[in-house]
This record gives sequence, structure tokens and C-alpha cells, in this order.
Amino acid sequence: MTLTIIGAGYVGLTSAVVYAELGHTVYLARRSIEKLEALKRGEVDFYEPGLSEAVRDTINRGTLRPTTDLAGAVSDSSVVMICVGTPPREDGSADLSQVFAVAETIAPLLADHTVVVNKSTVPVGTGEKVEAIIQKRLSKQSTMSVASCPEFLREGTALADLRNPDRIVIGTESIRARSALLELHRPLPGKRVVTDRRSAELIKYSSNAFLATKISFINEIANLCDEVGANVDDVAYGMGLDPRIGSAFLHSGIGYGGSCFPKDTQALHSIALEHDYEFKLLKAVIEVNQAQRRQFIRKIKKTLGEVRDKTIGVLGLSFKPFTDDIRQSASIDIVRWLHDQGARVVAYDPQAEHKAMQEIPRLQVCPVAEEVFTGAHAVLVLTEWPQFRCLPWAACKQGMISPIVFDGRNMLDAQHMREMGFQYYSVGRP
Ligand code: UDX
Repeated sequence: MTLTIIGAGYVGLTSAVVYAELGHTVYLARRSIEKLEALKRGEVDFYEPGLSEAVRDTINRGTLRPTTDLAGAVSDSSVVMICVGTPPREDGSADLSQVFAVAETIAPLLADHTVVVNKSTVPVGTGEKVEAIIQKRLSKQSTMSVASCPEFLREGTALADLRNPDRIVIGTESIRARSALLELHRPLPGKRVVTDRRSAELIKYSSNAFLATKISFINEIANLCDEVGANVDDVAYGMGLDPRIGSAFLHSGIGYGGSCFPKDTQALHSIALEHDYEFKLLKAVIEVNQAQRRQFIRKIKKTLGEVRDKTIGVLGLSFKPFTDDIRQSASIDIVRWLHDQGARVVAYDPQAEHKAMQEIPRLQVCPVAEEVFTGAHAVLVLTEWPQFRCLPWAACKQGMISPIVFDGRNMLDAQHMREMGFQYYSVGRP
């Protein structure tokens, strides 16, 4: 099949690559010639494992075709996918201006019987609005339908998630769109969930909200463990063995961040409010997540007292490992707080240091992790990059002013840390 993808962020670019790997012809619309040329060289402006290589491979195969000729691409395609951002507005609701702008632009360009697919995460009912915008500008002879096909990929494992989805959700009332989208995804594994457009839109928000709920739930259990002297790792393990609960997303720490959970939980809460429904549980999930960062800060204050003029080493700046994304990162929040309190922060992250320095220009970053220990009054582990486990901790300790470690991701072995002489604090583990 031939399709056009509009939007070259995480969802747009990775989806384009995977559809191109399946043998479809995929036009990836780009506005700037410089970005187009960079993409043709396999240069991607964010870090995602394996993506540059996959972009180069599919371009060389001729199936991925980055282009600035939107009109040519759209008129040649039977499927057009909208994969642009839906950032949060001040009030937490999703800003749909980019989605609507794309709808206006593509409407006069569509060939007959095109299926327009919304892959961006959008509030329930957006499909109808997009369809209305396109209908107004569609040429008289053409017909089209708008479907919802939400994406569930995770940053850091985006390609693997797209190549091996658990489910492919297709939301449409149109028989033609349904068969086109079933055909488009035919070689991929995973259950097909064919439903109406509104339900498909809600599946995406509900999934993210539920995962966020699991995280906030286990974080509250972790806080309780701190109070009663229990171990949250064992509690989560014991809970997760029940297949009705499952072990995934029960890892406690300083809470969730990233470009999806914070935004989508807020947006779903707003959607409910717009329909005069107060989603109390979701409100609590959001509040618990914000409080979790403050709880960790309280722990630091309790042990170190004033942090003014102290040197604090930070391991990890991204919102999770295997990405350079710092959006809504708990680590960035904690670094800001430390700066506000007058501390000197020395940080290391394998990928996110450049983005972090753009965000916090006064941040001092080190080229190697070991350096954050030198002269530090404490070291904070804020992102669970696996390589932090393999650091020569005992040797690193020698350079510290006081051997204190706060592990905000519960990634280190508490007993081993103490045996090495660290004063070690984590979340919900005695
Ligand atoms: C998420 C969803 O998983 C994905 O399906 C959706 O398409 C987009 O949003 P992503 O934001 O890339 O993906 O990362 P994810 O791995 O889900 O982690 C989100 C945040 O939750 C991270 O900050 C992570 O550290 C945190 N988290 C995750 C926990 O604190 N505990 C857990 O047990 C799992």
C-alpha cells in the first residue's frame, strides 16, 4: 500500500520506518529541506535505539520516502496518517491545533477513497471534528473517512513495540477504512481490536491512565512501607504473581514522567470534566505522582539538612533509560529544586545531557559517571540506566565527602550498598 505520514516525532518517524519495513511505500512529509536532507542521511533529532540504522535501511530499500512534496505524496496515497503532537494547554486539556491544521491542509489534496488515520493521542470526539474539517474542503468528487488507530509504543523500545504489538486498535465505522487498515497491518502480530472511533480514542487514554494508576498505587504502598518497615520490592513481587494483577508497572520510585503519562492523565481528567464527570481516582493518581517527587526531596532534606553550598552528584536526567527525552522528567524537577536551594549539582546521563543543559544552562555535566562522586556530599540515582549498577561503587565512594546515596529508582542492592559502607536510602525499602 502507499501511505503518507505527517509528523516525524517518536510516533510518526518510528511508524513510518516500520510500515516501510513491511514493504509499504511510505512518504514521510517534511517541511524543511534541511531536515529532509538530514533524515536521508539517517540523522534523527532524538535518541531512539536502532532508529537511525532503520531509517537508513528503509530509505535505501526505497520504501521510506521522506519528501517535502506533501501534495504529491497525499494524492498518491490510500492512507494518510496524522502523527503530530497534542501538547497540554495551561488547563491540562490537549491542544489540537496541529491536528486540525493538518486536516485543513490535506483536505483538498486527498485522492478518492483515502483513509485518514489519527495516530496522535486525541480526546474522544476528535475524529468527528477532523472529519468535519476535511469534508468542508474536500473536492466534490472525492470521498474519505477518518479512523482512529492509536499507538502504544514506549520510548526506548519504540521499534520493538511497533514490530511486535500486543494489539492493533482500529476505530472506524467505515467498512472500507476497516479493510484498508486490516490490510495495512496484516503482516504484524497482535490481536485486532476493531471498534468505533470514540472507543478507540478512549482505549489509548484509558491504557495510559491505568498504567499511571499502577505506578501511583505502588508508590503509595512504598511510602507506607517506609512507615511500617516493610519492603516494597517484596510486596510488589508478591502482588504481581497474581495474574489478575500482573508484575508490570509496579516498580516504585520517584514517579512517572515523559511526554505521555503526565499529559494523557491530565487530558483524560479534562475530558471527564468537560462531560461534567469528576474522575476522582485519576485526580488522585496525578496528585500522588507529583507528591512522590516532594517525598523524595523530604528524605534528602531530613538526612542532609540544608543543601546550600553542598555538592550533589546526580546519576540520570532522562525520564527513563534508553532515551534522551527529559520532558516531565522527575530528575529535572529535583535538579531544579537543588539549584533553588543553593546546592551545586554535578550530573551524568548517557544520552540526555545536551537536552538537560539546554533546559538548565547552569547544570554542570560530567563526561563519565564516576566524576559525579568527586567531592559530593551525596549522590542521587534518578534514572535507572542499567550501567549505573555496574559502576565501581566502592572506588567511587573514596572521592565523596560523605558516602550518602539516595536511590530514587530502587535499582541498587540495599544490603550490598551498606556492606560497601554507604549510607543508602531508597523508596519503600528498609
Ligand atoms: C508510555 C506507555 O507505556 C506507552 O504505551 C504509550 O504509548 C506512551 O506512554 P513511555 O512514556 O515511553 O510510554 O514510557 P514508560 O516505559 O511507560 O514509562 C513512563 C514513566 O513511568 C517513566 O518515567 C518510568 O520511569 C515510569 N515507571 C514505569 C515507573 O515509575 N514505574 C514502573 O513500574 C514503570
